[in-house]
Amino acid sequence: MTVAHMEYPLTGNSLIDEDHGHFAENLEKWRHLPDAELDQGLEEVAHHFAEHFAREEKIMETSGFPPIMIHRQEHRRMIALVEQLRAALAAGDPGPARSFFGGELETWFVQHAATMDTATARWAAQH
Ligand SMILES: [Fe+2]
Ligand SMILES: [Fe+2]
Repeated sequence: MTVAHMEYPLTGNSLIDEDHGHFAENLEKWRHLPDAELDQGLEEVAHHFAEHFAREEKIMETSGFPPIMIHRQEHRRMIALVEQLRAALAAGDPGPARSFFGGELETWFVQHAATMDTATARWAAQH
């Protein structure tokens, strides 16, 4: 089996990019989860988000990143979304979790890394 490696933009901050590398590896695994393992996958995403977002927010705080609230709100929105997917799954609907792992999460990640995370990395490198 060949594993397709997704492409995503590097931010230039080694701490952020290292986390993103782990995330991208996990995404390849989460993408192919059978329904019975979707909740485990969502739990792993929630865990990754909690740790990774906290690290990025620390970088924003220490460097005084002006739009920290916007970036933090987006993190909070994703944490809440994962909770919603877990609730739908628990209620017997795996559809939203399948769409999330099947493409929505990758689309979000690539876009988020290219915009808010890259802006944070660039600011932190100069302040
Ligand atoms: Fe990130
Ligand atoms: Fe972020």
